[in-house]
Amino acid sequence: MEEKNNALDIFGGNDGMKQTIMAHANELLDTMLDFKELMFYYSSAIREIRTKLEILDTEFELKYQRNPISSIQTRLKSTMSIMEKMNRKGLEINTENIEQNLNDIAGVRVICTYVDDIYSIAEALIRQNDIELIEKKDYISNPKPNGYRSLHLIVSVPVYFAQSTRRVKAEIQIRTIAMDFWASLEHQIKYKKQINDPDNIADQLKKCADIITYTDILMQNIRQQIDDEQPEKSDLDKIYDKLKKFDVPIGE
Ligand code: GTP
Ligand code: MG
Repeated sequence: MEEKNNALDIFGGNDGMKQTIMAHANELLDTMLDFKELMFYYSSAIREIRTKLEILDTEFELKYQRNPISSIQTRLKSTMSIMEKMNRKGLEINTENIEQNLNDIAGVRVICTYVDDIYSIAEALIRQNDIELIEKKDYISNPKPNGYRSLHLIVSVPVYFAQSTRRVKAEIQIRTIAMDFWASLEHQIKYKKQINDPDNIADQLKKCADIITYTDILMQNIRQQIDDEQPEKSDLDKIYDKLKKFDVPIGE
């Protein structure tokens, strides 16, 4: 029996056919690998941004014994969503077009404790010299008509590789726990196949958004009120506070 030690044999057929198939396969694989590499740039940007955010959160905790960031979620846009969005925009799919036209392949969602934390974190991030702010949409001071609220930043961040540095774009959504709760449920509901009375659902969702907006304001006011009511600390308490800072986790 003839041994199949040549990669060409996986395609079968005569030699001419094999050459043609090989050429096509080679071209296709190059395109796929370019895409894979592009996705690696975006996932690297996500890691860079996550680190920046974690450092800001730790710094704040060390200084003020409170975490402004409740959690960070990241996602790399799926291949299917990328293709779907490119088609929707009527663009030919290639890496240059993808890079130029999509801002949300790297997605970072920052869930903050209070509304004022959102702006503190955004400012502290934008202030960093290597971060370039491309676009800012404040859906908190200008909520969407459906009630959606969040602060959106499109930024680019440099990512350093062995032979090159690339600026990579990312979409950062910053919102409170309450805003995130609303957006997650609204997103789920929006994608249900059948909704009998969409206007009624939209009304109810808007009502929830209003309640949540009010809650966010109240919670922040309560915190402020309690902060303001705190008496001047005793010298011993001040020493205890400093000692407690030694136990703040500062990353590995
Ligand atoms: P795309 O929506 O990505 O095409 O871009 P855009 O220019 O409309 O950006 P925008 O800042 O409005 O929205 C970007 C992202 O924010 C979306 O992909 C969602 O993740 C989120 N978002 C925007 N609007 C809503 C909304 O009404 N509900 C929910 N749940 N999420 C929203
Ligand atoms: Mg949109």
